[in-house]
Amino acid sequence: MSEPRLKAPRGTFDVLGEQSAVRSALESRARAILEGAGYERIETPVFEATELFARGVGESTDIVRKEMFTFEDPGGRSLTLRPEGTAPVCRAYVEHGMHKRRQPVKLWYLSSFFRHERAQAGRYREFWQVGAEALGSEDPAVDAESITLLAALLAEMGTRELRLRLSSLGTPASRADYRERLKAYLREHEQSLSPDVRSRIDANPLRAFDAEDPGTRGVMQGAPRLLEHLDRSDLEHFAEVRALLDLASVPYEIDDTLVRGLDYYSRTVFEFTSDALGAQSGVGGGGRYDGLVEQLGGPPTPGIGWAAGVERILLAGTPPPAPAPVLELFVAMHSTGRELRQAAFGLLAEARSAGLTAQMELGGRSLKGQLNLANALGARFVAIVGDGVSTLKDMQGTEQQEIPTSTVVHAVLRGHHTL
Ligand code: HAM
Repeated sequence: MSEPRLKAPRGTFDVLGEQSAVRSALESRARAILEGAGYERIETPVFEATELFARGVGESTDIVRKEMFTFEDPGGRSLTLRPEGTAPVCRAYVEHGMHKRRQPVKLWYLSSFFRHERAQAGRYREFWQVGAEALGSEDPAVDAESITLLAALLAEMGTRELRLRLSSLGTPASRADYRERLKAYLREHEQSLSPDVRSRIDANPLRAFDAEDPGTRGVMQGAPRLLEHLDRSDLEHFAEVRALLDLASVPYEIDDTLVRGLDYYSRTVFEFTSDALGAQSGVGGGGRYDGLVEQLGGPPTPGIGWAAGVERILLAGTPPPAPAPVLELFVAMHSTGRELRQAAFGLLAEARSAGLTAQMELGGRSLKGQLNLANALGARFVAIVGDGVSTLKDMQGTEQQEIPTSTVVHAVLRGHHTL
């Protein structure tokens, strides 16, 4: 009787073979770049109290309104699979009293996130992000450094047709007048707006810049622009971020329609896009969130960071090949049988405790099949275990010698040494 075959849920995927190798390459590049710049790895729980995202990301965002995987635990608490990493990192910053540490506190993560979005190429319901957050400084150099690090990572990952869009949203205070002006403008053109934008005029008027329907887009072309209404200190901050990016030779375009889909942003916002990606062109983005820590119950603390989609980085680039793992010894057997298998297993264990990378025959192959396998695995040496003695073959030469099995590890270590 055969049971129906089960599949991974829609919008999710398995990571196999080649894909896991390129992901490891991305992880080690990210670690080298970010830890080299003083970022420390952080991992937060996969689920958090729903309130963290409602308060942190914002009730009027698409993420909180329609995309969260929210459930009740048996104790009746509302929990949510994390849709993003910034609010959890800020929660951890407050919970662990990190404001008492040397500032800014720089943290990075590589984790999976969950959003119930319409699944398509480059858009998944469980996806991975590499992210970096710097908390505790409003220095524009932190903004420029953060952006530069993502630019460096994307360059190293071979991301094609990359563009950086940059803007500033100002502080909520300097944005307040502008919001009223924009609301009035949107109300004037209410009949041309999508129902979604219309329903958010009061709660989130800036989101109208992100709408995709032609009616709203037409209206937004004539809308007042936030960049023209920022106050002096916001403008100075933005000018300094740009000057520092120029110094670091990171090219960017100012885009005064860039608003981003999360409510916590203030001042600098940015997004890297790749035209090689098609519809889901956002590779990574971020910005400042100077009010978020306080909003989550912590002391007033500025912050800036970004996250980039791992799948999108891999889709948009030609990642550098991951170095193949080296196999120093393959343990083969002259024939099957319990005694030889035990001798082979003993040799495998001895080789590994001596620090060698080693594998043994586990599939019941013929001797010829075992040698083919050792070849395919790129083994440096093969030991064919016999009764007390083994044949040690140097796979890079023609040499082969018959030696007591108890001396194989020593011989491999020596052979290795002379390489
Ligand atoms: P975000 O723009 O929502 O920002 O997501 C960042 C990146 O995650 C996107 O540019 C995209 O590459 C990837 N991404 C988002 N949703 C999906 C999806 N459904 N499938 C595949 N990839 C996806 C944030 O999440 C902010 N926390 C970034 C940030 C950090 N801002 C400040 N600090």
